[in-house]
Amino acid sequence: MTVTRASRISIQPVTPADAAAIACWRYSPPYEMYSFAPEDADWLLRPELHYHAAFDKHHELIGYFCFGKDARIPAALESGLYADERLLDIGLGMRPDRNGQGLGPAFLSAGLEFGQRTFSPDGFRLAVAAWNSRAVRLYERTGFSATGAFTVQESGMSFLVMTRLTSRSDQARPPH
Ligand SMILES: CC(C)(COP(=O)(O)OP(=O)(O)OC[C@H]1O[C@@H](n2cnc3c(N)ncnc32)[C@H](O)[C@@H]1OP(=O)(O)O)[C@@H](O)C(=O)NCCC(=O)NCCS
Repeated sequence: MTVTRASRISIQPVTPADAAAIACWRYSPPYEMYSFAPEDADWLLRPELHYHAAFDKHHELIGYFCFGKDARIPAALESGLYADERLLDIGLGMRPDRNGQGLGPAFLSAGLEFGQRTFSPDGFRLAVAAWNSRAVRLYERTGFSATGAFTVQESGMSFLVMTRLTSRSDQARPPH
């Protein structure tokens, strides 16, 4: 288990119990599209997708991160938006009852710190629905900026692709 220095948030690969819990979380409107289905629990356990569970200082499961290909918009794979292979894609979700309480910066910082230490990327990339101003605001405040946009033809939904290059001081942090 890794405890990040950004906060007392600890992050570790998802266990079957974590995956079952996360897959049952339900986000209320307009965020329903972020809910998994209970049958997705096995998907979250696939090792190549690098799903990780995040816990607060009371050891309560408060969210998840995934690193790599499952954080990309499948329909945008051929668009060139993912051409920079030095960047690590990150996906995330906080437990629904923790949303909108100002916890986003500590949560995301913990995931970025863990991802940096584990995968040593030159930076991070994420995709976010353009209408999701709560998430966009959090990403901007955490140092991400929009570097591209994509509209999924089937749904008509537009997404921003946002990137954040790793600073030298982040790279220099020793493992602990
Ligand atoms: C995205 C997520 C991590 C954001 O964390 P959070 O703790 O809910 O967000 P915060 O409370 O820290 O708010 C972030 C910013 O959005 C603002 N905000 C809060 N609720 C908002 C809302 N309903 N609409 C618009 N802005 C909102 C806050 O004021 C804050 O802006 P500020 O820094 O200028 O004050 C969290 O909501 C989440 O995991 N949601 C799951 C679904 C989702 O949206 N996933 C996105 C995947 S790309």
